[in-house]
Amino acid sequence: MRRTIDWADGAIVIIDQTALPGEFRLLELRTVSELVDAVKRLAVRGAPALGAAGALGVALSAHQNGDVHHDADRIAHARPTAVNLAWGVERALKELPNGPHAVLAEALALLDEDERLNKAASRHAAEIVLAECPRRPLRLLTHCNAGRLATVGWGSALGVVWHLHARGLVEEVLVDETRPLLQGARLTAWELAQENVPYRVQPDSAAAAAMARGMVDCVLVGADRIAANGDVANKIGTYGLAIAAKHHGVPFVVVAPSSTVDGKLADGTGITIEERDAGELTGSTPADAPVFNPAFDVTPFDLITAVVTEHGPLRDAGRSPGRRR
Ligand code: MRU
Repeated sequence: MRRTIDWADGAIVIIDQTALPGEFRLLELRTVSELVDAVKRLAVRGAPALGAAGALGVALSAHQNGDVHHDADRIAHARPTAVNLAWGVERALKELPNGPHAVLAEALALLDEDERLNKAASRHAAEIVLAECPRRPLRLLTHCNAGRLATVGWGSALGVVWHLHARGLVEEVLVDETRPLLQGARLTAWELAQENVPYRVQPDSAAAAAMARGMVDCVLVGADRIAANGDVANKIGTYGLAIAAKHHGVPFVVVAPSSTVDGKLADGTGITIEERDAGELTGSTPADAPVFNPAFDVTPFDLITAVVTEHGPLRDAGRSPGRRR
């Protein structure tokens, strides 16, 4: 299976996520400006994939004898919320004193790790889902896209679906369409269809009603930044889903590689939330309608059943020992 983001012949090659599901198209990014533009346009997106983009961007600059520190800063600030982007940049930058080849080797090592760590995190999470949810087969609900396309390979929250589906344990996945950019309807639905996992796309606003009707055994989402106390920034709408899940007693599981944990932040209040262009919303509004368009929200750890990385569930974050929802 092709990686979402890779390095070939001196360029960064990405699957163009703006073209899916209509067209499967690769983009060659030959300059740092092209990379920054691709990140801002969400041609490459999802926290772990952004980590890879950050590291490969530094490698690209180093290979072209660019002003690497300046380029690194531009890349790290292309989007503010997913901590993985700056993490990937920093990791590659540390190798700069050892020359461009060392920088590229570090970036490629990060790419290799990504699939392995996401597989491990999602395997741990699958066991938690099986322990928390007695019904078989399982009815799962997911938001945004936390699949292969959001990572270098495999996926985080959708990685759980791959593990469970391989064991014949998935009845269906309800996919929030994820307004306004439709990562669920366009990308998650495409990935599930490719793997022959039964799914239905629903408007985001149907999620609480689906829970009320007893149609959901577990909610699975990824993360863009996890604070030290376990608060989670993820795609806008995640917080509302978590409130609905808590109300209906539906387990709510967050899956991410540990590179998404920002130990420097005590809690989620310090997370910068990206606000995106009004144009993403104004297609059907009166001309020049004022807009509030945050790309992410923060879900307090109290609403979450488990935050799971490759090391297993975060245990001591934020709540008293042994407390479960
Ligand atoms: O704006 P996006 O599409 O980059 O947002 C992505 C998400 O919110 C994902 O849920 C998150 O990055 C986890 S992906 C494994």
